[in-house]
Amino acid sequence: MKELKIVTKIVISSYSELNEKEKSLIDLAKNATKNAYAPYSKFSVGAAVLLDNGEMVTGNNQENIAYPSGLCAERVALYYANATFPNAKVEAIAVAAYFKGDFVEKISPCGACRQVLQETEGRYKSPIRILLYGKKEIYIVESANDLMPLSFSF
Ligand code: THU
Repeated sequence: MKELKIVTKIVISSYSELNEKEKSLIDLAKNATKNAYAPYSKFSVGAAVLLDNGEMVTGNNQENIAYPSGLCAERVALYYANATFPNAKVEAIAVAAYFKGDFVEKISPCGACRQVLQETEGRYKSPIRILLYGKKEIYIVESANDLMPLSFSF
């Protein structure tokens, strides 16, 4: 019998250690929480996507009274980016969440968003840098594949 260990590298950064593009991406994700439609959970999530054409697009969670019909911020941003600029490679995504009057100390994309992130990496044949915003520290993961190893594909 053999054992396979899968290791995920997470870089822990402060806001001031980020480069200017990354700072802008975080700022946009934080700002995007303001336009979330989250009347049911009151949990507002913002995402900002950086494309290789220099564009940065944002999304936020959009809820619905029929709960499963809602969509997470990450997928809103990614689908908007892919729908608007289908030929632009997705280079990075930043995620921030706001709840009960303050930013949450980091959230990480749900399984469905990880699946979509991973497909997007495959589509553009390029890893997506994922920045998870927290006031104390920002987690940076180099690829969606790191967040979801052994994912489904055929
Ligand atoms: N949500 C996101 O938008 N992104 C995540 O990564 C996790 C959860 C949303 C879904 C729902 O509108 C609210 O946050 C509470 O789960």
